Amino acid sequence: MYSAKVMDHFTNPRNVGEIPDADGIGAEGNPTCGDVMQIFIKVKDDTIVDAKFKTFGCGAAIAVSSMITEMIKGKTIDEALAISKETVANELGGLPAQKMHCSNLGADALKKAIEDYRNKKK
Ligand code: FES
Repeated sequence: MYSAKVMDHFTNPRNVGEIPDADGIGAEGNPTCGDVMQIFIKVKDDTIVDAKFKTFGCGAAIAVSSMITEMIKGKTIDEALAISKETVANELGGLPAQKMHCSNLGADALKKAIEDYRNKKK
Protein backbone atom coordinates (compact mmCIF):
# COMPACT_ATOMS: atom_id res chain seq x y z
CA MET A 1 0.00 0.00 0.00
CA TYR A 2 2.87 2.43 0.72
CA SER A 3 5.80 3.07 -1.60
CA ALA A 4 9.35 2.17 -0.55
CA LYS A 5 10.11 5.91 -0.28
CA VAL A 6 7.21 6.48 2.15
CA MET A 7 8.41 3.56 4.27
CA ASP A 8 11.97 4.90 4.20
CA HIS A 9 10.95 8.40 5.35
CA PHE A 10 8.55 6.98 7.93
CA THR A 11 11.05 4.58 9.50
CA ASN A 12 14.03 6.93 9.13
CA PRO A 13 12.62 10.47 9.17
CA ARG A 14 14.98 13.32 8.29
CA ASN A 15 15.02 16.71 10.06
CA VAL A 16 13.05 15.78 13.18
CA GLY A 17 13.10 18.46 15.88
CA GLU A 18 12.82 22.19 16.30
CA ILE A 19 14.89 25.19 15.25
CA PRO A 20 15.01 27.33 18.41
CA ASP A 21 15.72 30.58 16.52
CA ALA A 22 13.53 29.74 13.53
CA ASP A 23 12.67 32.58 11.13
CA GLY A 24 9.26 31.04 10.46
CA ILE A 25 7.05 28.48 12.17
CA GLY A 26 3.90 26.98 10.68
CA ALA A 27 1.46 24.59 12.30
CA GLU A 28 -1.40 22.74 10.72
CA GLY A 29 -3.78 20.12 12.02
CA ASN A 30 -6.56 17.98 10.70
CA PRO A 31 -9.58 17.94 13.01
CA THR A 32 -10.86 14.66 11.56
CA CYS A 33 -7.84 12.49 12.28
CA GLY A 34 -6.36 14.72 15.00
CA ASP A 35 -2.90 14.78 13.45
CA VAL A 36 -0.77 17.89 13.97
CA MET A 37 2.33 19.07 12.12
CA GLN A 38 4.75 21.90 12.85
CA ILE A 39 7.41 23.10 10.40
CA PHE A 40 10.34 25.36 11.33
CA ILE A 41 12.40 27.22 8.74
CA LYS A 42 15.62 29.18 8.81
CA VAL A 43 15.99 31.67 5.98
CA LYS A 44 19.01 33.52 4.66
CA ASP A 45 18.99 35.85 1.63
CA ASP A 46 15.52 34.63 0.68
CA THR A 47 16.69 31.00 0.65
CA ILE A 48 15.65 28.29 3.11
CA VAL A 49 18.91 27.14 4.68
CA ASP A 50 17.44 24.77 7.28
CA ALA A 51 14.13 23.10 8.03
CA LYS A 52 12.87 20.85 10.80
CA PHE A 53 9.55 19.38 11.85
CA LYS A 54 7.57 17.99 14.73
CA THR A 55 4.63 15.81 13.79
CA PHE A 56 2.16 13.94 15.92
CA GLY A 57 0.46 11.89 13.32
CA CYS A 58 0.20 8.89 11.07
CA GLY A 59 3.05 7.29 9.14
CA ALA A 60 2.18 9.16 5.96
CA ALA A 61 2.17 12.51 7.81
CA ILE A 62 5.64 11.74 9.18
CA ALA A 63 6.93 10.70 5.74
CA VAL A 64 5.43 13.89 4.24
CA SER A 65 7.07 16.10 6.90
CA SER A 66 10.42 14.40 6.39
CA MET A 67 10.22 14.72 2.60
CA ILE A 68 8.99 18.31 2.54
CA THR A 69 11.74 19.51 4.90
CA GLU A 70 14.30 17.79 2.63
CA MET A 71 12.74 19.33 -0.49
CA ILE A 72 12.72 22.94 0.72
CA LYS A 73 16.31 23.14 1.91
CA GLY A 74 18.25 25.26 -0.58
CA LYS A 75 15.07 26.54 -2.26
CA THR A 76 14.07 30.19 -2.45
CA ILE A 77 10.87 31.24 -0.68
CA ASP A 78 9.02 31.45 -4.01
CA GLU A 79 10.22 28.00 -5.07
CA ALA A 80 9.13 26.55 -1.72
CA LEU A 81 5.71 28.20 -2.06
CA ALA A 82 5.21 26.40 -5.37
CA ILE A 83 5.33 23.01 -3.58
CA SER A 84 1.85 21.51 -3.50
CA LYS A 85 0.45 18.43 -1.84
CA GLU A 86 0.74 16.68 -5.22
CA THR A 87 4.44 17.59 -5.54
CA VAL A 88 5.21 16.06 -2.14
CA ALA A 89 3.11 12.97 -2.81
CA ASN A 90 4.85 12.47 -6.17
CA GLU A 91 8.29 12.80 -4.56
CA LEU A 92 7.23 10.06 -2.16
CA GLY A 93 6.31 7.76 -5.03
CA GLY A 94 2.60 8.40 -4.50
CA LEU A 95 0.20 8.15 -1.56
CA PRO A 96 -3.02 6.16 -1.28
CA ALA A 97 -6.08 8.33 -2.05
CA GLN A 98 -7.30 8.28 1.55
CA LYS A 99 -3.86 9.54 2.67
CA MET A 100 -3.68 12.61 0.40
CA HIS A 101 -4.90 14.81 3.27
CA CYS A 102 -1.66 13.95 5.11
CA SER A 103 0.22 15.49 2.22
CA ASN A 104 -2.04 18.52 2.36
CA LEU A 105 -1.05 19.00 5.98
CA GLY A 106 2.61 19.32 4.94
CA ALA A 107 1.98 21.81 2.14
CA ASP A 108 -0.25 23.93 4.39
CA ALA A 109 2.16 23.90 7.36
CA LEU A 110 4.93 25.01 5.00
CA LYS A 111 2.83 27.88 3.62
CA LYS A 112 2.08 29.02 7.18
CA ALA A 113 5.79 28.89 8.11
CA ILE A 114 6.55 31.11 5.10
CA GLU A 115 3.70 33.48 6.01
CA ASP A 116 5.11 33.68 9.54
CA TYR A 117 8.58 34.44 8.14
CA ARG A 118 7.18 37.20 5.92
CA ASN A 119 5.17 38.75 8.76
CA LYS A 120 8.21 38.76 11.05
CA LYS A 121 10.30 40.43 8.36
CA LYS A 122 7.84 43.32 7.98
FE1 FES B 1 -4.44 12.44 9.18
FE2 FES B 1 -2.41 11.16 8.21
S1 FES B 1 -4.26 10.31 8.90
S2 FES B 1 -2.50 13.24 8.68
